[in-house]
Amino acid sequence: MSENRAAPHPVLRRYYQTEAQRQAYLASSFDETAAHYDRINNWMSFGTDRWYRHQALLRAGLRPGMRFADVGCGTGLVSDIAREAVGPEGWVVSVDPSIGMLGEAVARGRVTWPLRGKAEHLPLGDESVDFLCMAFALRHVVDLELAFREYLRVLKPGGRLLLLEMTPPRRGLLRALLKMHMRYVIPVMTRLLTRSRTATVLYEYCWDTFDQCVPPEKVLDALASAGMASPSRFVSAQIFSEYTADRPGR
Ligand SMILES: C[S@@+](CC[C@H](N)C(=O)[O-])C[C@H]1O[C@@H](n2cnc3c(N)ncnc32)[C@H](O)[C@@H]1O
Repeated sequence: MSENRAAPHPVLRRYYQTEAQRQAYLASSFDETAAHYDRINNWMSFGTDRWYRHQALLRAGLRPGMRFADVGCGTGLVSDIAREAVGPEGWVVSVDPSIGMLGEAVARGRVTWPLRGKAEHLPLGDESVDFLCMAFALRHVVDLELAFREYLRVLKPGGRLLLLEMTPPRRGLLRALLKMHMRYVIPVMTRLLTRSRTATVLYEYCWDTFDQCVPPEKVLDALASAGMASPSRFVSAQIFSEYTADRPGR
């Protein structure tokens, strides 16, 4: 990953050495963890996972009638919320590279139009959506600018981008508590309750990627370099970054 100009985090050698190994690691880990993902997320967020995503989508301007893309949809939580919000006049397309995740999203009845694909090369037409959201998946793209240029392509002029990520504080008590919870408590609970070593290691990896992620200024710079208008960041509960930007025009 280090060879990329705008990689979201440095190479994490505990998990992979090369970009090909990173891709393979992510694919197998998300596939194998998919069945446990909702349960673990629910513990991790103390039951606020759905509520928080809903609030963030409304804050960013999701409205009835919009054409919406959920990129890195996982088990489809954001898609499900968006389907309700856009109503019968809008539609929602849900994209993820993991067959396991897409399978869970379909099985849970949360997605109408599931598609296999990656942020860097979306299976969507030019200027096809009003709103594109990527929730807690930005750290997995190969290059921020590459993904943002692809978002620019599929957004209609004036369309809105929302990126949700966690940004742990660099120091202090909140950081210590968050690290304890996410890097140690959640992996141990995952091991005990799912017996899946893959899922356990994935949650350790998750913290490491949150922690090693490039600072918010770099994400905002990459949005601007990709050609997005008005990139900005709203911080919620001191740890959640909500990046918004618009496709210029209209
Ligand atoms: C932590 S989950 C987030 C799922 C969901 N968005 C949510 O809010 O719960 C990260 C997801 O990103 C997907 N992913 C990994 N690499 C990706 C890429 N290059 N483009 C899009 N999605 C990717 C994974 O398969 C996984 O489903």
